[in-house]
Amino acid sequence: MTTTPASTPSLDDPTTDPFHVARAAADHIAEATGVDGHDMALVLGSGWGGAAELLGDVVAEIPTHEIPGFSATTVAGHLTVTRSIRVERADGSVRHALVLGSRTHLYEGKGVRAVVHGVRTAAATGAQTLILTNGAGGLRTEWTAGTPVLISDHLNLTGRSPLEGPTFVDLSEVYSARLRDIARRVDPTLTEGVYAQFPGPHYETPAEVRMARVAGADLVGMSTTIEAIAARHCGLEVLGVSLVTNLAAGISPTPLSHAEVIEAGQAAGPRISSLLADIAKQV
Ligand code: HPA
Repeated sequence: MTTTPASTPSLDDPTTDPFHVARAAADHIAEATGVDGHDMALVLGSGWGGAAELLGDVVAEIPTHEIPGFSATTVAGHLTVTRSIRVERADGSVRHALVLGSRTHLYEGKGVRAVVHGVRTAAATGAQTLILTNGAGGLRTEWTAGTPVLISDHLNLTGRSPLEGPTFVDLSEVYSARLRDIARRVDPTLTEGVYAQFPGPHYETPAEVRMARVAGADLVGMSTTIEAIAARHCGLEVLGVSLVTNLAAGISPTPLSHAEVIEAGQAAGPRISSLLADIAKQV
């Protein structure tokens, strides 16, 4: 097994190859968990933290900031451990899932390389499937707080790409129709929608939400699209699931607050966690 170099080059350095750092991170994970390769990865956003325990036996838990290229999260309500979980599927086969309990957001100012480092690390561990989850504002009034929604497509309104140079990746089907079908087999009531990523960290204005609606958005949030693009570049099959934590600005009768987002996540936590675990066991 490869030993992690004592000092891994910084993602901030433009001369650093971010895939080299992802390789070092994957080697560290293999060493720390004793699991040579992972089959799938999950990124747990606001409200989704409880899913890990329901997936299967936790083989190992690593403080995320100890993995090369990662730093401590700055968002309240996010977990800061990376877990390797042994998942027993319905057909009796076993999969290894890498569960990233936090993500780096664009608004943290660490750059797009840091935002997608988890995804690239997951790919370097061997993962072929990626489940991205988040908390989002809903644009449809029938979606009350606590409604899980499959992401069918996205609008990347950040003006940023995780790809550098002439890397022309096809995005015709970022979020796998096959995986959405599997999710709907687990829960036929699951609805789907288009997710629009804004840069944040401020919430949107009502005018921005109206613009997003005209452009085709059903959900607004501050994550996921940049990670999904990086994942497609790495060849990962992606499932995206949002938890509606609030009605978006201008649709909601009350001002938005991060506390409200966390609260809605906590209230829906047990239900959506078991849904996510059931889906992950089928993919
Ligand atoms: N907007 C952006 N991000 C969010 C929201 C929202 O309304 N709710 C949860 N994350």
